Amino acid sequence: MQLETAIILDHRDYGAGYRLLRLAAPQIAPQVRPGQFVHLRIPRLEASVLRRPFSIFKAENGELALLYKAIGRGTTALSAATVGEPLSLLGPLGNGFPLDLPAGRVPVLVAGGYGMAALYLLARRLAAPGLVFVGGRSAQDILCVEEFEALGWKVYVATEDGSRGVRGLVTGPLDAWLAEGCAGRTPEFFVCGPNGLLEVIGQRAMARDWRAWLSVDRHMGCGVGACLTCVVKLQDTDGTWLWARACKDGPVFESRQIHWDRIEEEA
Ligand SMILES: Cc1cc2nc3c(=O)[nH]c(=O)nc-3n(C[C@H](O)[C@H](O)[C@H](O)COP(=O)(O)OP(=O)(O)OC[C@H]3O[C@@H](n4cnc5c(N)ncnc54)[C@H](O)[C@@H]3O)c2cc1C
Ligand code: FES
Repeated sequence: MQLETAIILDHRDYGAGYRLLRLAAPQIAPQVRPGQFVHLRIPRLEASVLRRPFSIFKAENGELALLYKAIGRGTTALSAATVGEPLSLLGPLGNGFPLDLPAGRVPVLVAGGYGMAALYLLARRLAAPGLVFVGGRSAQDILCVEEFEALGWKVYVATEDGSRGVRGLVTGPLDAWLAEGCAGRTPEFFVCGPNGLLEVIGQRAMARDWRAWLSVDRHMGCGVGACLTCVVKLQDTDGTWLWARACKDGPVFESRQIHWDRIEEEA
């Protein structure tokens, strides 16, 4: 983990209401593993001391790219940052996704919202392409399909209003693929999106004794394990439970680790 002053190289609209932020970050970029995040200090927001967490969309040649949506005070202030401006970053943080799949597994990525950005780096770093299932309310919420297809991944899109892909939830095309026998292969799931999505994919995986790696979204304070803002309830091996910090022990957990009643309460 490093504290680095990154310089904005590019900052523009990316579609689907998202902004692309490209940064020179030569210390952090080479260390990044898929699923990790950076904790970013928002410029000109002196009254708000807390950094904001963002997944790493791309990390190469000493540069980082983030994809974010302006949803509140911090992200709206960030959207006004300009090329050449310095940004304070803490990162890379968190554990990230495992990259070594057992033999014969096909990677199956499932995303909602900014989850596509978080999973894109994983798709680039896995040894062989697999499948991506992405869902959203409408076509405007669907990110990065062309980027995954350019890497050779098969992308299934579902939107609730039917404006792109099949009408309905992302579980529709996923369940159809599962019902067809997964083309004879065993899926290894990687999921980033709302807690409800993490849960339904986790339940499907656990029911068949498959693995699902879930990136948990929690409000974060320090980002480094000190403040306990981001706790997640996990199952302990002896049947009891324990608290874990999403920022330091996660944000990626395997579905069997999570104590699901607690995730529901906080969704
Ligand atoms: C590990 C991690 C990775 C993330 N990666 C990305 C990313 O790649 N792109 C992206 O656009 N966003 C990402 N986020 C979410 C992002 O951090 C929040 O959108 C941001 O902190 C909001 O800051 P704000 O000051 O604009 O909003 P605030 O003014 O703080 O909040 C605005 C509204 O959003 C809600 N909110 C704030 N943070 C979250 C959150 N983490 N989860 C759910 N609701 C929230 C608040 O309750 C409030 O209703 C990530 C979050 C985590 C934990
Ligand atoms: S954000 Fe402080 S412990 Fe996780």
